[in-house]
Amino acid sequence: MKAPLVLYGPKNPETMRVIAAIQDAERARGEAVTELLGFLHSDPARCGTSFHDLPIFGGYEKVAELAERGAEFVSLVTGSTVGRYETARGIVEAGGTLGRLLHPTVDTRWSTIEPGAYVQEGVLVQAEAHLGVNCSIHMGALIAHEVKVGCSAFVAHGVSLSGEVTLGDGVFIGTNASILPRVTIGNWATIGAGAVVTKDVPAGAVVVGSPGRILRQGAIPHPHGNPLA
Ligand SMILES: CC(C)(COP(=O)(O)OP(=O)(O)OC[C@H]1O[C@@H](n2cnc3c(N)ncnc32)[C@H](O)[C@@H]1OP(=O)(O)O)[C@@H](O)C(=O)NCCC(=O)NCCS
Repeated sequence: MKAPLVLYGPKNPETMRVIAAIQDAERARGEAVTELLGFLHSDPARCGTSFHDLPIFGGYEKVAELAERGAEFVSLVTGSTVGRYETARGIVEAGGTLGRLLHPTVDTRWSTIEPGAYVQEGVLVQAEAHLGVNCSIHMGALIAHEVKVGCSAFVAHGVSLSGEVTLGDGVFIGTNASILPRVTIGNWATIGAGAVVTKDVPAGAVVVGSPGRILRQGAIPHPHGNPLA
């Protein structure tokens, strides 16, 4: 039996379209269908309400009992990679196991996709790419051959990560940015929308423009972004 899912941070209705596509593909293959039990939310005021007719159970205090029901958990938080890391960490500390939320258009056979990953429709993941624990890749991004995406990193829609690019933990890549081959982006760096990054970026830096330039040096909020470590 497939583990049912519980998702942290209901906000974006696109999640429901991803779930529907996963379930449709499973039905078409004659497989058991993944059940979405409901959601977790940090705001106690949302506890007991619903999102798209599914329950919002509460916060981390609900993780243990949902885990007892066999549920696995994925964080939907993408606006901040610090938030993405901290929510997944909270789930793991409360006894939850991270699952995966992978749109069925994603060919997963040639790459490694770690637990906690949330990958939307049409993401092209080339051979020997590695998607780290709790990372999230939005619609239509290109993850080229041998790319490494760090834990809790976020890649927005339309981004191009060329071959052998390395993203550190907690990296945030804005919409339509392009990272040129073999470039390394340090932990918790932010790449602005539309940037073209031609050389390595230090940890915590915020980079914008084409060619990319450092706008400012940001904080390093955690030593790493792996909620399982
Ligand atoms: C790079 C970014 C994080 C900077 O945010 P910020 O710190 O709030 O920066 P500000 O808006 O104060 O802008 C600071 C300066 O950088 C410039 N700038 C900001 N973002 C830029 C970008 N993407 N490209 C080029 N210049 C940019 C601003 O024009 C401003 O320039 P000025 O000082 O000459 O007026 C943000 O603008 C960005 O691009 N975020 C990505 C959003 C995204 O793609 N989200 C994914 C959605 S799924």
